[in-house]
Amino acid sequence: MDFASIETRARAAVAAGQQVVLVLGLGFVGTAVAGNLARAERNGKRLYFVIGLDRNDEAGRAKVARLDQGSSPTYANDPSLERVIHEACTAAKNLVGSNDPRSIGLASIVVSCINLDVQREAGQVDRLVVPTEGYAAAMRMVGEHMRPGTLVTVESTLPIGLCDRVLYPALCEGQRKQGVDVAAQPPKLAYCYERVMPGPDYLDSVNNYWRAYAGIDAGSADAARDFLSQYVNTEKFPLWRHKSTRAAEMAKLLENSYRATNIAFIEEWAKLAEGAGVDLFDIVKSVRMRKGTHDNMMLPGLGVGGYCLTKDALLARYGAEKLLGLDVSMPFSRSAILTNESMPMRAVRWVEEHFQGALAGRKVALVGVTYRPGVNDTRSTPSEIVGRALAAKGCKVSAYDPLVTHWDECPEIAVSQDATPVVRGADAVIICLPDPLYRPFLADLLKAELRGGAIVVDPWNMIVDACAADFARGDIALKVYGRGDFAVAPAR
Ligand SMILES: NC(=O)c1ccc[n+]([C@@H]2O[C@H](COP(=O)([O-])OP(=O)(O)OC[C@H]3O[C@@H](n4cnc5c(N)ncnc54)[C@H](O)[C@@H]3O)[C@@H](O)[C@H]2O)c1
Repeated sequence: MDFASIETRARAAVAAGQQVVLVLGLGFVGTAVAGNLARAERNGKRLYFVIGLDRNDEAGRAKVARLDQGSSPTYANDPSLERVIHEACTAAKNLVGSNDPRSIGLASIVVSCINLDVQREAGQVDRLVVPTEGYAAAMRMVGEHMRPGTLVTVESTLPIGLCDRVLYPALCEGQRKQGVDVAAQPPKLAYCYERVMPGPDYLDSVNNYWRAYAGIDAGSADAARDFLSQYVNTEKFPLWRHKSTRAAEMAKLLENSYRATNIAFIEEWAKLAEGAGVDLFDIVKSVRMRKGTHDNMMLPGLGVGGYCLTKDALLARYGAEKLLGLDVSMPFSRSAILTNESMPMRAVRWVEEHFQGALAGRKVALVGVTYRPGVNDTRSTPSEIVGRALAAKGCKVSAYDPLVTHWDECPEIAVSQDATPVVRGADAVIICLPDPLYRPFLADLLKAELRGGAIVVDPWNMIVDACAADFARGDIALKVYGRGDFAVAPAR
């Protein structure tokens, strides 16, 4: 929406008792946050007029255009998202999109949900490029446009020390450009990391969930607490106040590093189980019976994907070294990232071994492209590692995913929403994701469409029980991460 119209509507909203909140970044996080804020109400009245601001580039304008048409800028298989956004844009009229940074000046609260990527070459975790200057530039932009007294909360995942060492100074610099005396009127900056989970509980994972916050000073922390208390279900999920922004930054990184490490840990046991001729899935289920201490043990799988778990364990050391000058090595967290990244390559090696290295021209089908069932986010997926590696060895790779029409990160691999032509006559099938959308029919489809001599890699133990006997009869090899308890057809 153009700035003049947004300004008129924002002023009318303020006159009607609403606060104006600007959400910076309309990606996976920002969309859920904007939708959530737009639906927040008290006594039947909407609390906020929400402006979603994204970059003024092609992708940013497309997101804003979608929002202004009453549609979600990102997909989630949470049906409430489309409904909430549509209702807010068309009926309640308290949600608009913008590519104009002047919109920042209309808000009393700015919520930053922009990305901070980690760039590195695969296979190493020591040389990272983390464009913190880009994040600082965004904060300077906010400072240049915001009114003094505006609360700025950051929800992005950050290296330890970024808020106090980089973002707060950048915000002050922006304010000074406007002529604001920041000693007399210091900006309010809080860190309120996000735990939103794309999937069926997308919207609820923002406000019906445990939230934490910290401020650059006590006043900022209090303001963040008051803001979160307005729209988070704090009766059921009381807020956690961290002692500093660094503590909050560390909490988010610890949380994701812990999960990445748990996933990596099971990989060596999967290999052991394969060698020892036992079923690790069955073993883990038995261990999980010990509720309270062992019930979140991970099962084997193809690998870890998505934007967060593939990078966050590296941000702790990066921030400690680059921002705080500490000498830390964080070996568990770093090796978790490397282990998780190497996991998908086992599937590639199995296919290669099966065909004794003769891969040129083989038809390979990837079943599932995204990193998690029910989402269409294709960033940093294990299927990308598998697909690229097999394509580089001369295979003809195609993919099936009911939620993906185009694979942005891997445009050379065609994606179909119809599984049959993808798996029909394939030499190798790799089940990259255990998605309930295809679980009901995949085993039968593979049994019907594969020929003798093919290989199926099922890292998730999804189709084994339904297929193992038929595959053995049909001379189709089946390999499963963590399962050494059944025989597979001989290599070609
Ligand atoms: N995806 C998740 O499930 C998840 C969960 C919790 C936390 N996080 C963290 O939240 C942050 C955002 O993640 P995401 O998945 O939403 O990223 P994303 O890439 O989907 O979205 C980021 C959005 O910000 C916009 N943007 C970037 N710079 C901008 C600027 N200067 N001005 C305006 N808009 C700008 C981009 O155009 C994009 O639309 C990351 O730090 C991530 O680690 C993500």
